[in-house]
Amino acid sequence: LFSGPVSFLKSAPELKFLPDPQVPEIAFAGRSNVGKSSLLNRLTNRNGLARTSNTPGRTQELNIFDVGDPVRLRLVDMPGYGFAKAPRELAKKWRFLVNDYLRGRQVLMRALVLIDSRHGIKDIDRELMKMLDDAAVSYGLVLTKADKIKASDLADVTERTMAEARTRPAAHPEIVVTSSETGLGMDRLRAAVLEAAQI
Ligand code: GTP
Ligand code: MG
Repeated sequence: LFSGPVSFLKSAPELKFLPDPQVPEIAFAGRSNVGKSSLLNRLTNRNGLARTSNTPGRTQELNIFDVGDPVRLRLVDMPGYGFAKAPRELAKKWRFLVNDYLRGRQVLMRALVLIDSRHGIKDIDRELMKMLDDAAVSYGLVLTKADKIKASDLADVTERTMAEARTRPAAHPEIVVTSSETGLGMDRLRAAVLEAAQI
C-alpha cells in the first residue's frame, strides 16, 4: 500500500474541516520537534510530503494524508506539543483540538506516540498518554532519532519505555525503534500501521 499513491489531502484547524470518516485513520502525535513529519515522509518514502522544520510548533493543525487511490487509509500528522515558547492560548487550543479528535473520531484506529530516544518519556508525553487512556484510543509508542544515540543507551531507553507502556491501560506493549535518517524500523512501523488499520 505504501508503495502506491500517497498525497496531502488537507489541513484541519478544527474538527469540522476533517474529511468524511470513510476510511481508517492512524494519528502521529508527540512533542514538537520529535520527528513526526520526518517519520511520515520516511514511512511513505515521500520526501517533502509532510513539512519538516527546525522551528518547533510549526504544525498547528491536523494534517491529513491519503494513502492509496482510491484512498484506503489516512495518516494524520498531529500538532506537536510542549515547546518552550508556546503561549498559554496555544496550549489550550491544542488540548481542545486533540481531545475532540481523540474522543470524537470513530475511524481513528490507533495513535502512535513518538518519543525522542535521547529523552525518553517526559511528563508532557504522560499528559497525552492520559488523554489517550481516558479516550480509550489504543496507541503504540515509537522511539525516534535512534541514529542520534549509542546502542547501549538505546537499549536502556527502549527497556524503560516498554516498562512504562505496560503500566498504561490503552498502550500497546510493543515499542518500535526508528530513525528517519537511516530508515531503521520502517518496515515494522508500516506493518504496525496496516495491522492497526486492519488492512
Ligand atoms: P513539529 O511539526 O514542530 O511538531 O515537529 P515534528 O515532530 O514534525 O518534527 P520534524 O519531523 O519536523 O523534525 C524536527 C527536526 O528533527 C528536523 O530538523 C529533522 O530533520 C530532525 N529529525 C527528524 N527525525 C530524525 C531522525 O530520525 N534522525 C535525525 N538525526 N534527525 C531527525
Ligand atoms: Mg511536523
